Amino acid sequence: MSHIAGIDIGGTKCAVSLGRIEGEEAVILEKRQFATPEGPEQTIDMLMEQLEQLLRLSSVARPSAVGISCGGPLDSEKGLLLSPPNLPGWDSVDIVRPFRERYGVPVKLQNDANAGAVAEWKWGAGRGTRNMVFLTFGTGMGAGLILNGQLYCGTNDMAGEIGHVTMEAFGPVGYGKVGSFEGFCSGGGIAELARSCALAALQAGEPLSFCESYEQLGRISARRVGEAALRGDEAAVEIMRISGEQLGRGLAVLVDILNPERIVVGSIYHRQRSLLEPAALEELAKRALKRSRSVCTIVPAKLGERVGDYASLAVAHMELKEREA
Ligand code: BGC
Ligand code: NA
Repeated sequence: MSHIAGIDIGGTKCAVSLGRIEGEEAVILEKRQFATPEGPEQTIDMLMEQLEQLLRLSSVARPSAVGISCGGPLDSEKGLLLSPPNLPGWDSVDIVRPFRERYGVPVKLQNDANAGAVAEWKWGAGRGTRNMVFLTFGTGMGAGLILNGQLYCGTNDMAGEIGHVTMEAFGPVGYGKVGSFEGFCSGGGIAELARSCALAALQAGEPLSFCESYEQLGRISARRVGEAALRGDEAAVEIMRISGEQLGRGLAVLVDILNPERIVVGSIYHRQRSLLEPAALEELAKRALKRSRSVCTIVPAKLGERVGDYASLAVAHMELKEREA
């Protein structure tokens, strides 16, 4: 039975998975996760060590392919990471070579949003579609595009970088620009929005329930804001509504340009859909062309919190199939 390996490199954590394709499904057999160490050398050592351990645990000599998923910019042909903003110090790092040299099997690097799109398309909420978009809506915001039944990467792996599109002249930054889509619709962006509200409230002497002192400002996260909103905190509800509204605008742009039949939204949308969906759908209805909107459904990622693991395995699987073809 052939095993595939998946490697997911993020700014805060990395994951290594070992899986198998069984019919139409991907099965994750083992997974390890760790906080991303500083710098590429240490991280690569750690990834290789963890993969070795998983292989040993499963009595597998080598995987039949390795898929690596990471935020852009990157060069998928050369296997290079090109200074992704969430990984300081990773300036033109060949992430593919160490694995190829160790195992002598196909190894492929792919943008995390693209990888997520393939995973949701094959094994999740995008199954059976020919035109779909996947939005990460996690630590960052990126889009993966499946067009005419194929992953579309653009001319040099930059297709789908919708997180960097400007929505407003002012607003949170995310990893990109002031007022960008990623600024409003990402974990970091929501936290940033919440921090400025919380600071203003503290200064006015009326602290918010999710941040009662100046010391707590640094601990604000999108997760905390979402939890506060579900408890009924009005400021938190409003922050999530703003994020939802901007999500709706981003969705409208995608619907108008690409005319997809489905848009699958990951992480934070999957977790906090009840807070985001009403504003998002209202804005989408207001802004997108009716004929395109009428054929497009907006759904949360089916692979949920595990989409990142399936994403890296999907890259390995796709690479294997392309080699076979
Ligand atoms: C990057 C994208 C990535 C997204 C999600 C953005 O900041 O530019 O390449 O897909 O974050 O991680
Ligand atoms: Na992309």
